[in-house]
Amino acid sequence: GSHILSVNQLDLEAVEKVFSVATRMTPYALRQKRTTVLDGAVLGNLFFEPSTRTRVSFASAFNLLGGRVNETVGMASSSLSKGESLYDTARVLSSYSDVIAMRHPDSFSVSEFAKGSRVPVINGGDGANEHPTQALLDLFTIQKELAAGGRDISGMNIAMVGDLKFGRTVHSLSRLLCMYKDVSFTLVSPKELAMPDSVISDIENAGHKITITDQLEGNLDRADILYLTRIQEERFPSQEEANKYRGKFRLNQSIYTQHCKSNTVIMHPLPRDSREQANELDNDLNDHPNLAIFRQADNGLLIRMALFALTLGVDAQLEQYERPVNW
Ligand code: CP
Repeated sequence: GSHILSVNQLDLEAVEKVFSVATRMTPYALRQKRTTVLDGAVLGNLFFEPSTRTRVSFASAFNLLGGRVNETVGMASSSLSKGESLYDTARVLSSYSDVIAMRHPDSFSVSEFAKGSRVPVINGGDGANEHPTQALLDLFTIQKELAAGGRDISGMNIAMVGDLKFGRTVHSLSRLLCMYKDVSFTLVSPKELAMPDSVISDIENAGHKITITDQLEGNLDRADILYLTRIQEERFPSQEEANKYRGKFRLNQSIYTQHCKSNTVIMHPLPRDSREQANELDNDLNDHPNLAIFRQADNGLLIRMALFALTLGVDAQLEQYERPVNW
């Protein structure tokens, strides 16, 4: 029944519990079985910044467990645009909801909102700060992808590439990886978009090794996981400033084949930027078996179903109905 605002709230036991419930959600996510375990419950799904996956998978997860969703999309549709505080907004909307998922462009805004909320709040991304549910689905994906090839999180090398300054998913994922032993990090970014010092010190305090570089080629040969990120153009002071970094690091089939191991798993939280001169992950890898990006998105549904079930205390009550044949 508590908020999920930062990965710092989680320990290994909590993460393993989420993964175990997420795995049990598979037949419901695939619509092979259905459940009404959240019948009558309402999710307030508040997205004050653009989203495809996170918003729709929170809503789908809640629907698949039998609950209903109340959506607020965009700052302009909310009285926040009239100067109302996050606290008042939370006081009001939490009395209409059993749980709230929220994304907002400002760091720590979701925590601020949670202070006024009478129901659990789940952070769907707060500015450049954190994206804890993404980090959980990323870690769940890493564990599954590595296990399929007999590898483990402990002992792995992860290369994180791109905008490590504004990319909130890499901040949260790095911190979750601090719960494991012997992970080595290769951080590839322009110097101006380096991983924040606070995250670097968390990684170092966990005893992990870090290589920091601004060169992609020649630094990927040890990577078990290659985690690409988009330049977060919306966080730059101007488009001109963002343009300096457009297309700086691009992975395509030729670079992958030349510079990575044959079993390097390619990940990206998505969205990837498909615009000319910007795309960091080429379509020529779309059918590569090691490309895990859409499996990440599928795992996101399982993780969010698990988080709702655990937060609302119904994880032990998943009754099962077979899917009617004529659906
Ligand atoms: N990965 C992710 O957060 O995607 P959206 O911005 O589309 O929700």
